[in-house]
Amino acid sequence: MIQMFHVYKYYGKHHVALDDINLKIEKGEFVFLVGSSGAGKSTLLKLMICEERAEQGQILIGGKNISRLNENQVPFLRRNIGFVFQDFKLIRRKTVYENIALPLEIVGAPGGEIRKRVQEVLKMVQLEHRRNQFPQFLSGGEQQRVAIARALINRPLSYWRMSRPVTWMNSFRSKLWICSKIFTSAEPP
Ligand SMILES: Nc1ncnc2c1ncn2[C@@H]1O[C@H](COP(=O)(O)OP(=O)(O)OP(=O)(O)O)[C@@H](O)[C@H]1O
Ligand SMILES: [Mg+2]
Repeated sequence: MIQMFHVYKYYGKHHVALDDINLKIEKGEFVFLVGSSGAGKSTLLKLMICEERAEQGQILIGGKNISRLNENQVPFLRRNIGFVFQDFKLIRRKTVYENIALPLEIVGAPGGEIRKRVQEVLKMVQLEHRRNQFPQFLSGGEQQRVAIARALINRPLSYWRMSRPVTWMNSFRSKLWICSKIFTSAEPP
């Protein structure tokens, strides 16, 4: 579960990016975060991975108050959150397989477990046939699916994707209970 209580974020002294945000996202809930450009969507997601810090308020992820984490603890938080960046951030010199395996290698997972999980997510994103290819030789949609697979590889508590919806995900998504929450900085939920 993800919860926010009275969260405020300023850039500089006077630029209010988030103004008294309160939200609750239950386990298994599927949420869309929408709002006009500059409304604060990216800022809100950045708070969840401690890329930015809130000025005030509490953010609980899986019951833990992440506002209190110090810099050394942040990598451990990020291992529990699957994040697909707008520009995918795939490593060019690594193959599809190696890019997806990376989060598990970082945490020192056993080789057999890595092979099993990578195979599972490759199947999930329908990219088994491209496993030995390098990212620069993939289509935009295929690169996006590699980034999604990498975000899912260590069974995150929470998974976030920035930017456009993926049509490929429609069949996958239909199996989930979809809840949409509307968000703008002018009208906090
Ligand atoms: N690093 C920064 N320094 C100063 N102001 C920032 C910074 N990042 C974002 N802002 C400002 O904070 C506000 C919220 O930005 P944010 O990137 O969260 O918006 P967004 O909802 O993701 O917009 P978009 O849909 O255009 O991506 C905007 O007014 C933006 O100009
Ligand atoms: Mg944004």
